[in-house]
Amino acid sequence: MSLLIKNGRIITAADDFIGDLFVDGEQIQAVGRNLSYKADEVIDASGKLVFPGGIDPHVHLDMPFMGTFSSDDYATGTAAALHGGTTMVIDFILQTQGRTLYDALEEWQKKSQGKACGDYSYHMAVTDFNETTKAEIKSLIHEEGITSFKTFMAYKGALMIDDNQMVGLMKEVKEQGGMVTVHATNGDMIDHLIAKNRQEGNLSPLYHYLSQPEITEAEASGRFTDMAHYTGVPAYIVHLTCEGALNAVRRATYRNQKVFVETCIQYLLLDASLYDKGFESAKWVMSPPLRKKKDQETLWAGINQGLVQVLGTDHCPFNWEQKKMGEEDFSKIPNGHPALEHRMELLFSEGVHQGKISLNTYVAITSTNAAKIFGMYPRKGCLAAGSDADIVIFDPQKEHVISADNHHHRCDYSAYEGWKVKGKCETVILRGQVAVANGELKVTPGMGKFIKRGTISKVI
Ligand code: URP
Ligand code: ZN
Ligand code: ZN
Repeated sequence: MSLLIKNGRIITAADDFIGDLFVDGEQIQAVGRNLSYKADEVIDASGKLVFPGGIDPHVHLDMPFMGTFSSDDYATGTAAALHGGTTMVIDFILQTQGRTLYDALEEWQKKSQGKACGDYSYHMAVTDFNETTKAEIKSLIHEEGITSFKTFMAYKGALMIDDNQMVGLMKEVKEQGGMVTVHATNGDMIDHLIAKNRQEGNLSPLYHYLSQPEITEAEASGRFTDMAHYTGVPAYIVHLTCEGALNAVRRATYRNQKVFVETCIQYLLLDASLYDKGFESAKWVMSPPLRKKKDQETLWAGINQGLVQVLGTDHCPFNWEQKKMGEEDFSKIPNGHPALEHRMELLFSEGVHQGKISLNTYVAITSTNAAKIFGMYPRKGCLAAGSDADIVIFDPQKEHVISADNHHHRCDYSAYEGWKVKGKCETVILRGQVAVANGELKVTPGMGKFIKRGTISKVI
């Protein structure tokens, strides 16, 4: 099957020109002006933008968490992603403490194989670092192509590791050419504040926010950055939300250290005033919580300063019945919200249309940088001969409104209900196959492939 996309405005992290793309099979064969290849299908992209399929490196599909499971599985989650122009996700495998990393890998393979509509990879979350775990890292990186290892500095008793384990893990991952990523918040401080609030009878969702002040994230981000500097491991902070944490990263740059930073769409667009809505605020209970307007400004600036390289979602949806597990106690509300489908369109509308970021930066932070940082470039995240033909044809003027009535997440509420968006994915192509056209999904579960990743470069 071959495809010729004609007269689109082709945007990459570096380029911006009117041209054509020729796809044969799963790969792009040629990019240029006035291409005259004969193709099975020709798409006229006049007036449209053409950019690489999005990569969301932070999603939780079918994840066991806080006594329940995130409500999107691989089929529904990757389908929603495709509707929103995201052709690949990186999900998190969670090691069960006391069991091996390979046990966890098998469990996640059962969840994903034959079910994903879009491409996917995994980060391996190490929740119990010991001699057995250490021995598994080499083959995970070199044989399985799982090259990034997630750590939690919070969620004690379930996911958190201590600094001793962190340094041990960092040394081994560095040795094997991988990357350590982190949920950087101070778990002990947070647990102290949660216990205090519960004891004082402060049980509404507002106290989720008040139990995780900015300092808890700033402290952990600095500590993580220092440990990464000491061990020399390539390091990446997931879902960074605030000024204090970004300043810890900024300080690391003074000693010429590179720490990669991801923020998520919600931290750019939503703020902590949403915690003033009684139990309805449970819709936005996530960790870290939403922050202040000044933090949003810091994050937009951080993108343009090159300190924040990646935009994810931390998509971790729960239906309202699940959120109600914490009706009497905020600490029992499953943490997370639905966002995967909306990342690309919201960022375009609020970032590009509002003049906050350029088109090239838009592509860099929605796909190219993640592909480079996580060892998939130039297979993914770019429009070039030889790259996978993961392509979005985008109508920058089309307006629409986000709602739980029309989204594709398996979740009965939207965190962005009623949000007016300008710009819509019109056609989404996954490895040469039209996956979404005019709002209709054209692929079935099983189309998505596991993508083996390479070792990590420190420079992007
Ligand atoms: O609230 C969140 N973020 N839920 C998912 C788990 C995590 O910390 O990323
Ligand atoms: Zn997290
Ligand atoms: Zn997460």
